[in-house]
Amino acid sequence: MAQLIRIGIAGLGTVGAAVLRILAEHSNQLELRAGQKLVVTGVSARNRTKDRGVDISALQWFDDPVALARSPDIDLFVELIGGENGPALAAVTAALQSGKSVVTANKALLAGHGMMLAALAEANNVCIGFEAAVAGGIPAIKVLREALAGNNITRVSGILNGTCNYILSRMENEGLSFADCLREAQKLGYAESDPTFDIGGFDTAHKLALLTTLAFGVGIDRDAIHIEGIESITLSDIRAAEELGFRIKLLGVAERTSRGIEQRVHPTMVAKSSTLAQVMGVLNAVSIDADNVGRITLSGPGAGGAATASSVVSDLTDLAAGTTQKPLGLPVASLATAVHMEMQRHEGGYYIRLNVQDRPGAVAAIATRMAERQISMESIVQRHSGPRLAASGPVPVVLITYATSENLVREALEQVERDGFLDEKPQIFRIERE
Ligand code: HSE
Repeated sequence: MAQLIRIGIAGLGTVGAAVLRILAEHSNQLELRAGQKLVVTGVSARNRTKDRGVDISALQWFDDPVALARSPDIDLFVELIGGENGPALAAVTAALQSGKSVVTANKALLAGHGMMLAALAEANNVCIGFEAAVAGGIPAIKVLREALAGNNITRVSGILNGTCNYILSRMENEGLSFADCLREAQKLGYAESDPTFDIGGFDTAHKLALLTTLAFGVGIDRDAIHIEGIESITLSDIRAAEELGFRIKLLGVAERTSRGIEQRVHPTMVAKSSTLAQVMGVLNAVSIDADNVGRITLSGPGAGGAATASSVVSDLTDLAAGTTQKPLGLPVASLATAVHMEMQRHEGGYYIRLNVQDRPGAVAAIATRMAERQISMESIVQRHSGPRLAASGPVPVVLITYATSENLVREALEQVERDGFLDEKPQIFRIERE
């Protein structure tokens, strides 16, 4: 008779329900792959009676996810509760302490406590699978942790938040407002329960923190990440980008430089012809530069129940088959402490949109402040619709710079603000040239 691996799932939202469905639908094939039958035996969620489209009446019910994690009736624990602390942390800790491997989609939990949890897993000779925590259905963790073992990775970057990419794509394609697009994304189930995590760039940062650790063999340190969200992007930025041959994407970038590891999350101008610019809607992409293999770019659905559940099931199958890895690639004790490069030292091109008072000398003064700091401009365009017979009210001025450094751009713009020509804070996006 085939052996059984008994699975407990805590959290039965869209991902949890999809995991139950996939395990049932692919039961035979998964058993052949793993060499044992994957059977869900226990579940825990907030609401027992909610209709999830899957029958859970035969499964043992736990009001308390920690009790499920500790139950002697399960061999593997799946955490789909979400949240950095609270029940998710308590239940994952309890499962690892009870000698059970864990599968989780919870990037906030791992970005906050991943080092402690990975050490706990190692101490108990078990594993943590978190393929679903980064880029939904894209197998980015497996690629970085396993497939590229024979490489030195120099850079990992990508579009890591489906909600943001969906919003930016809808704004561009439909000319809709930011708020309308966010509402749509929430309705479609892409957004986190608190959408600030998505639009503020924090969800991307959590994922980037994990990718950085796997790419560079350094400890997880989300506090080292420079984070900006997409809240301030206007339709006018999107249109200006389009006219200049760019598209705006929220990127997470981690790069090994001669001055340390740079980790940043911010809206970025990418050339419309670039690979990342083609990644639209809820799709995510992860691009990895490595010495032996060159560049690999993976793209696919970054959010949504079925895609994320696909990654959960992949981890469950690996664990059931016994093909496990150290959770963070290297033993926790051998992860290095990274030297972090501060954002002020970032070098690259910049898109700057200024709302400038329309008076003689304004644009010349801006150009002077840039020139004083050796900032060379690729273009400077005063943008307004329709003819103006005389100066009246502020006008947008868009500058594109050649490569320069962040602190020089900041300094120049602070001076321009002090000169009194600006009507509002400058909008600044970095340009990423691939
Ligand atoms: N809210 C996340 C996103 C879900 O939009 O990408 C997947 O982590």
